[in-house]
Amino acid sequence: TSPYTVLGIETSCDDTGVAIVRSDGVILGEALASQVDVHEGYGGVVPGLARQAHEANIQPTIEAALSRAEMSAEDVDGVAVTVGPGLEICLRVGCEVAKEIAVKHGKPFVAVHHLEAHILMSRLGTGGVDFPFLALLVSGGHCQILRCEAVGEYEVIGGTLDDSLGEAYDKVARMLGLPVGGGGGPAVEKLALKGDHTKIKLPIPMQHRKDCDFSFAGLKNAFRMAVSKLKDFREIPQSEELELQDKADLAASFQHAAVKHLEQRISRAIVGTTTSTSPTATPINQLVVVGGCASNQAIRSSLSSVCSSHGWKMYAPEARLCTDNGVMAAWAGVLKFNDRTSDKPEGQEVYARYP
Ligand code: KG4
Ligand code: ZN
Repeated sequence: TSPYTVLGIETSCDDTGVAIVRSDGVILGEALASQVDVHEGYGGVVPGLARQAHEANIQPTIEAALSRAEMSAEDVDGVAVTVGPGLEICLRVGCEVAKEIAVKHGKPFVAVHHLEAHILMSRLGTGGVDFPFLALLVSGGHCQILRCEAVGEYEVIGGTLDDSLGEAYDKVARMLGLPVGGGGGPAVEKLALKGDHTKIKLPIPMQHRKDCDFSFAGLKNAFRMAVSKLKDFREIPQSEELELQDKADLAASFQHAAVKHLEQRISRAIVGTTTSTSPTATPINQLVVVGGCASNQAIRSSLSSVCSSHGWKMYAPEARLCTDNGVMAAWAGVLKFNDRTSDKPEGQEVYARYP
């Protein structure tokens, strides 16, 4: 069969992402309008402002992606859009436009699950992996380990008891006075490179709990206390900022503890998967790491060594495609159309929570 093209739209949070992806995995055109400046100073994404920005950006972003692909809307073979989970008023902006395009040009339409789209990015392009695999999904909204057997066949084997990893990075960034627009993760990662994690000891969460769940609330509180103690020690008022080197050491300590936590949970999941897979089923021996935090190099390299030590392979999408973007919606659409799945655009809803 000759390749076909899908226009994908993603507006679940604070990025307006649009892409045209060919069914063989080639990205023909993509555009991303981020809202870094919109939410700066608010300490998080403000839903009303995010919706306004999506409304202002959606048409120009679609036009930019189409023009990079040298196509117009009537040339695409299908339309895919993220319908949840996410901020409902934001999801609706993308969903309404996608429905309109599909109806107007009589194109097949498919609704995409945001988390599934992150996971399926591991199958894009030539370096992609085949089912079955374990997935570590680490983003701003989620923190899960899933066993993935096929498109639409996922079993959650671990989740978070409190915060997601992305939230923990974002809160640490805020406590250190780093820029958090577009997520605090990149700023903490960068600063941690200049720090020494042995200077400040932070607890590794749930070391003795024998499951694959995560927790970041305790680490976050320990971090807050460490900041406060260091300020007292340096005789800096609590309302003022620490010196850069102290901040770098703190960032390194946080990242060290968080990464150790991931390593331990993944190690446990690998051992559990290896021993529980029935001898007749295809054995799982690969881990994919996806979601915004998967763009973090420290996380990628440490999990890659954990995998090798168990004889497993690790795969993570290109870093820029780990955070929210239009390609993930389009590519999930391709895999769903391949599976002969499609939806009726008329009456398609969006879902804040989407099982
Ligand atoms: O997948 P994503 O773009 O949106 C959600 O679906 O949530 O993930 C955003 C999250 C933010 O919390 C951001 O701080 C985090 O991913 N993140 C990172 C890095 N880049 C983004 N965390 C750690 N290190 C990074 N380099
Ligand atoms: Zn996401």
